[in-house]
Amino acid sequence: MAASRDRRGQEPVEYFSEERSAEVVAASFADTPDPRLKRVLTSLVRHLHDFVKDVELTDEEWGTAIAFLTATGQKCDEVRQEFILLSDVLGVSMLVETINHRTGGQSTESTVLGPFHMVESPPRELGADIALDGKGEPCLVTGRATGPDGQPLAGAVVDVWQANEDGFYDVQQPGIQPERNLRGLFTADDEGRFWFRSIVPKYYPIPDDGPVGELLAATGRHPNRPAHVHFIVTAPGHRPVTTHLFVDESPYIDSDAVFGVKESLIREFPEVDDPARAVEVGLPNPFRAVHFDVTLLREGQAQTSGPS
Ligand code: BEZ
Ligand code: FE
Repeated sequence: MAASRDRRGQEPVEYFSEERSAEVVAASFADTPDPRLKRVLTSLVRHLHDFVKDVELTDEEWGTAIAFLTATGQKCDEVRQEFILLSDVLGVSMLVETINHRTGGQSTESTVLGPFHMVESPPRELGADIALDGKGEPCLVTGRATGPDGQPLAGAVVDVWQANEDGFYDVQQPGIQPERNLRGLFTADDEGRFWFRSIVPKYYPIPDDGPVGELLAATGRHPNRPAHVHFIVTAPGHRPVTTHLFVDESPYIDSDAVFGVKESLIREFPEVDDPARAVEVGLPNPFRAVHFDVTLLREGQAQTSGPS
């Protein structure tokens, strides 16, 4: 241990050493006024130093990491957030989401928001068709918003968006897809029910033409997300849920590039062959159908703590 007096006399000083590097650097944050910032930085330094020691990071690898992070920043603009994408493919986004939205088994599980909720969904009537481009396999989506005790959440707002038949969101194909294609903002009825017409979603790749794509390629990972519909459900007095509905038969359901799949969110999309029902809901017969109930916790309802 390299403790000694500093040059001016009084305080004991510990100079940097390999063995005690983390403690020495953590001590530099001793006077941080914000206790949370102090805790986060101290822990970050400890884990970073452990990591560097664990792999014995070389000069060259350190340089590669700096170049990678620089390129990641340079890829960012108003619509592209490469750092969030990096967090996504490292599973950090899902971990933060999961820690901050524990359900205690009492509400619908959450998953990542993703980068394509960048425009407001248009308010639509219950039963409306959100597939404006006329492509894809017609599908009826039904569900019910309830509170933790099963009480219907009348007037719950259900925001949905999904990729089209070719695996692109409307915002990725301006001028090709109609504006606000496959998006809708619905208000649940008095029994908390919502329903709309859409298409069975398709799997698609996350944006992989940047440093994150290079990382995936270098590690033999594919960039794909299994087919899903995004939901944000809100109701007064309740905690909003940001989640997805996944298609059980989708490719990549077991290997989502961003680790967003939770088993409780996977549903079958069976074919319905019922001409009368098809007329009733305004779809060609046969059509596909899926049911997705969403349960919200009450605002302030105690969250369970994490696994011990
Ligand atoms: C999405 O589901 O829209 C998404 C999520 C994370 C990264 C890229 C896309
Ligand atoms: Fe998505």
